[in-house]
Amino acid sequence: MRARKLGPFTVSAIGLGCMGMSQSYGEVDLAESERVLLGALDAGYTFFDTAALYGFGHNESLIGRVLGHRRKDFVLASKCGLFKDAQGRRTVDGSPETVRRTCEESLKRLRTDVIDLYYLHRIDAKVPVEDSVGALAELVRAGKVKTIGLCEMSSSTLRRAHAVHSITAVQSEYSLWTRNPEAKILPLCRELGIGFVPYCPLGRGFLTGKLRDAAQLGEQDLRRTMPRFQGDHFTKNLALLEGLAALAKEKGCTMAQLALAWVLAQGEDILPIPGTKRVKYMLENAAAVDVSLSTADLAKLDDLVNPTTVTGARYDSAFALTLDSENE
Ligand SMILES: NC(=O)c1ccc[n+]([C@@H]2O[C@H](COP(=O)([O-])OP(=O)(O)OC[C@H]3O[C@@H](n4cnc5c(N)ncnc54)[C@H](OP(=O)(O)O)[C@@H]3O)[C@@H](O)[C@H]2O)c1
Repeated sequence: MRARKLGPFTVSAIGLGCMGMSQSYGEVDLAESERVLLGALDAGYTFFDTAALYGFGHNESLIGRVLGHRRKDFVLASKCGLFKDAQGRRTVDGSPETVRRTCEESLKRLRTDVIDLYYLHRIDAKVPVEDSVGALAELVRAGKVKTIGLCEMSSSTLRRAHAVHSITAVQSEYSLWTRNPEAKILPLCRELGIGFVPYCPLGRGFLTGKLRDAAQLGEQDLRRTMPRFQGDHFTKNLALLEGLAALAKEKGCTMAQLALAWVLAQGEDILPIPGTKRVKYMLENAAAVDVSLSTADLAKLDDLVNPTTVTGARYDSAFALTLDSENE
């Protein structure tokens, strides 16, 4: 697969989001997840994304168990600072003690002695970001982490964090239907030389056109909590897919590949991490690097799906509380 630069690393232009192998999007077939992880290396993926949060450590343990023996073959990104309590409610804890403790736990689960890119998963409003990033910087000095990232932070928080220790990557939601980073975050990343890793580049599967009926989502599927996937919002958003389907047909690619090609076309500093637990999708997504979009194609996509045509918030009000406010 084509490569892109991310701080000191050279990684596949498309990385693999591993979250769905442990939570959020319905039933998981463990044997298939293992095939996805190993098959991804064969297909040229060299950038894998996980977090302490995913499946309460299940996801990191899976990666450690399946890919531990291939550790030198990929750049490993994980995250700390966002947790779930027993009721499934998200809690943010970016205190230095928690950052240090979580890193030790992650290293064990991942069966490695160093994490290449360690993100603060959310900004803790109760802890100055200087303290959280200070703890991450200590981990870099101790050789447990190579580089630092932040997720879903505001531009002012990013500046403060970068003043404590250089930030290598920002990971926030970005896709055709979630454009929030375009206003302030992407320009600031470019000013500071920070790479941008869009999560949910497929709009949690919506932009692939495979999900036509939200009622089909399992009871525990996280998308049930998200306004965009509910009622009239979902119905109105579905209408946007017709134009995407037509353009994908014209380009001879799938809708998933079209959505990823749009993200890739936003800049060489952008490294999307589509998530899947299926070999078929993992291979299909890798091939999106070969879809080239003309200026006219990009303009057409921008017209079809943008903040004025999409309806419904991306997170429910409870989860939105974990976001650093200025970002929304
Ligand atoms: N930093 C953060 O706060 C944050 C938040 C969310 C996610 N993430 C990271 O970002 C990664 C990607 O985000 P995501 O997985 O939530 O959303 P996504 O990549 O936008 O979409 C994933 C969904 O799309 C489906 N899919 C994938 N490829 C497909 C294809 N070619 N055709 C049809 N459907 C396809 C998957 O189905 P299957 O599940 O059936 O394979 C899954 O339901 C995650 O895995 C995680 O590592 C980070």
